[in-house]
Amino acid sequence: MTAVLFTKKKTKIDRSQRVLPVHVGIIMDGNGRWAKKRGLPRQAGHQVGASNFRKITRYCQRIGIKYLTVYAFSTENWKRPKEEVEALMNLFYDYLVEALRDFREDNIRVTFIGDMSAFSPKLQELMVETMELSADKTSMQLNIAMNYGGRDELLRAVKAISNEVAAGALQESDITAEVVSDHLYTAGQPDPDLIIRPSGEYRTSNFLLWQSAYAEYVFMDDILWPDFSTENLEEALDEYARRHRRFGGV
Ligand code: FPP
Repeated sequence: MTAVLFTKKKTKIDRSQRVLPVHVGIIMDGNGRWAKKRGLPRQAGHQVGASNFRKITRYCQRIGIKYLTVYAFSTENWKRPKEEVEALMNLFYDYLVEALRDFREDNIRVTFIGDMSAFSPKLQELMVETMELSADKTSMQLNIAMNYGGRDELLRAVKAISNEVAAGALQESDITAEVVSDHLYTAGQPDPDLIIRPSGEYRTSNFLLWQSAYAEYVFMDDILWPDFSTENLEEALDEYARRHRRFGGV
């Protein structure tokens, strides 16, 4: 498999010694193409993608990933045909009910990042309930990005910070990178170390724009999200272990 871009030489990684990323982001891309290849409606791809989301999340928790952020629905995805958006909303509801049961057993804390106010009251209630019920879970933090966009998140942060400055609660000279981070949905969490995107698209698509400043990207060519396996995840983790992170230093 052409798994990754940019690594010149693939050294063999000893998985028992490998350094794991603390925070992994996944852009779950390729559901539509997966369905099209099989002559199925796009919704069928989302259905299989949703069950894979559940499997991969549980696997991440089992191997010791501490933070996982998945991109489920972007601020731009509302532009899709009405039937597809409706099918996705129904799927989110059904899968969340089931997945939350698993996550409770697995001690996973769930947070939704994005503007929840756009969803139906029923879905919003489920999202709030999920966050409340899992608030004391400790083995992994799962962020589900829904109606999320990195630019929208930054705009909200800028507005909130300007309001605080206007109200005299904050001085302009006190605005630091930390202050900005503290006004994002991911406040208090470490930035992602590794972002994985299957499906052969090489873009960030407005995902964690601020937080990904020093993330390592692994773009996987030959795999669409519904087929993305635990071995594909392991390959991405191997690749992460091969990278030399310098954070702008030498
Ligand atoms: C991108 O593939 C995928 C989405 C926009 C939806 C992702 C949603 C899921 C995997 C379901 C997750 C479920 C829960 C409960 C969080 P695409 O449709 O853009 O595929 P394409 O690029 O092949 O058209």
